[in-house]
Amino acid sequence: MPVHTIPDGWVLETAHTAYAFGLNPAGLLTHRYWGVRLPYPDDYPPAPAPMNWASFNNPSHLTPEEYPGTNDIKFVEPCLKVTFADGTRDTVLRFDSAEIDGENLRIHLRDAFYPLNVTLHYRVHAERDLIERYAVFVNTGDQPITIERAFSAQWHLPIGDHYRLSHLSGRWFDEFNIQREPLVQGVKVLESRRITTGHHHAPFFAVDRGHADEESGEVWFGTLVWSGNWKIAAEVTDFASTRINIGLNDWDFAWRLNPGESFTAPASLAGYVQNGFGAASRTLHDYVRERLPHGDALHKVLYNSWEATFFDVDVNSQTKFAEIAAGLGVELFVMDDGWFHGRDHDRAGLGDWWPDAKKFPNGLSPLVKRVNELGMDFGLWVEPEMVNPDSDLYRQHPDWVIHFANRERTEGRNQLILNLARADVQDYLIDHLDTILSENNIAFIKWDMNRNVSEPGWPSYEGEQREIWVRYVEGVYRVWGTLAARHPKVIWQSCSGGGGRADYGILRLADQIWISDNTGGTARLGIQEGFSQLFPANTMEAWVTDMEKHLSLTFRFHVSMCGSLGIGANLTHWNERERNEARRWIAVYKEIRPIIQQGDQYRLHSAQFGEGRTAVQYVSKDQRESVLFAFRTHVPDPAQPFTVRLRGLNPQARYTVEGFDGARSGLAWMNTDLLMPLLNFDSTLRRIRQVEG
Ligand code: GLA
Repeated sequence: MPVHTIPDGWVLETAHTAYAFGLNPAGLLTHRYWGVRLPYPDDYPPAPAPMNWASFNNPSHLTPEEYPGTNDIKFVEPCLKVTFADGTRDTVLRFDSAEIDGENLRIHLRDAFYPLNVTLHYRVHAERDLIERYAVFVNTGDQPITIERAFSAQWHLPIGDHYRLSHLSGRWFDEFNIQREPLVQGVKVLESRRITTGHHHAPFFAVDRGHADEESGEVWFGTLVWSGNWKIAAEVTDFASTRINIGLNDWDFAWRLNPGESFTAPASLAGYVQNGFGAASRTLHDYVRERLPHGDALHKVLYNSWEATFFDVDVNSQTKFAEIAAGLGVELFVMDDGWFHGRDHDRAGLGDWWPDAKKFPNGLSPLVKRVNELGMDFGLWVEPEMVNPDSDLYRQHPDWVIHFANRERTEGRNQLILNLARADVQDYLIDHLDTILSENNIAFIKWDMNRNVSEPGWPSYEGEQREIWVRYVEGVYRVWGTLAARHPKVIWQSCSGGGGRADYGILRLADQIWISDNTGGTARLGIQEGFSQLFPANTMEAWVTDMEKHLSLTFRFHVSMCGSLGIGANLTHWNERERNEARRWIAVYKEIRPIIQQGDQYRLHSAQFGEGRTAVQYVSKDQRESVLFAFRTHVPDPAQPFTVRLRGLNPQARYTVEGFDGARSGLAWMNTDLLMPLLNFDSTLRRIRQVEG
């Protein structure tokens, strides 16, 4: 049973981990344990008794509460903050009851006086070694309650303050930089205020004791299943209690909870491993792959001409690209921006989702038909949430955008954001996109979002204006979810000027993420490594392009083969030698993609911390096959040898490793330093195969 009761509490057990909490002698719901699974129920420590220190530090300030309210003489980060109808801004949550239902535990809390119920939901993903938490707020009274903070969880680390936080930061064109920094007394905030997930931080944390690496060390890690404003507040209290708060961003947030209504905060997922950051990532990868709309279905090799042609697309030129791409072995041809009404540049067209009559006089069908005849699937780019002021849609509905009544509407890339919190906007988008999907044989949609919010107003809404942050995201989910349900075979990709909307919420709708507009091979090595902390390789589309052209085509292919391979170069410029080489790599990729897309990933040498030496290995789940990619981007003087040790092999089984003589046991290979004879800007791909007997 994944959920047990223990004296004065509960324990949630996964295959290897356990998470325990209960009521302390003062009746507060208190964290007890999070770590390796223990053999006996009595092994889990009791809830710590309330301590009395001084009048400045009340017992509740010193108690690691599971879901602290805003009350008492307490100054730790609370999980919720509400204002009741009479103006009271204090929440005293008392335990009411608990329900166990298979892998679920629900803890019902009630305010001591006011008509607010809060249910903490816990779900155990036992085989995946993850725990999911979220909270539901219910107004049981007859007057509205305003919610001003509604976190999903507070995750407690074992008492102590020598922890280190790893997180992902960046910016457009430079996403997913791994940051590792000590957590010290105070609050470290990571967040998005951009109405979407953001390039600048990913909703991800990994906490260790300061010396974990890819292979070893305890790591507590987690994320949030949400695609809008989010916040992580990692706090070390003045009494060395370390906790990670995660949930909706409370910045500018308010929600009016009317009588009888409920509000559900998004889920947070978290886990614990004893063997380093690599194991944390693999745990998350397995979880994600199982839940993608199309599971771990293999992704096709794609071509997209965006970087080659920008807006200059029409039926003839796209057909030409399609013919060349098909000859290389490409399986999915995607037409990017530029195909719809009036879209000759980025100053016009967004919102008018029908084919441009000049470029596609007979609609999209002739191109789609030709692409299908060539044996490829057809895919299309859209950016549904946006509108250019120069569009028919905006001329008809200027009030449909997010704005404040008496403020100028700030444009980003010449566009404004449609207010997807509005049902009429949602319905418009559903209708128009459904028409495109119904009239054409479309297998893939790249859903883009190319700016962040400004003037976050909704003048016509009679409710609480600040609900827009959540209602917008729910609107995106509704439009996308409705279309996905009507067209279940379509593979969707989440793009937001690269990796601006990469999160576990969007991966309930999208199978893939466009992780960066930076497709340069050396830059990508680092961006891909950062992305892999949280996301598996099958969700990562990676193109070979003409960026960083000084790199060999082989190098560029190897980089992109580490994910779901695509090509974005100008194929008309490739000579016969280059096309032959591409053909060869695409064929190799098709052979090894099950290992990459469905296997376990090991980061052997870090691109971000690795002195110009990067190595990534993928191992099939049955450990019969593996593939190693190694890259060198800087040769220090005097040259350092570049060696790798393989990982993830069956120690007893025997393997061959391409480029090395003989068949040896997995244990032997994993304990031998293999020399990679790489020059600068050089790369290699080695296949590793189990041999019989
Ligand atoms: C964004 C995307 C690109 C491309 C352009 C089109 O920048 O990230 O891949 O689709 O939009 O305008």
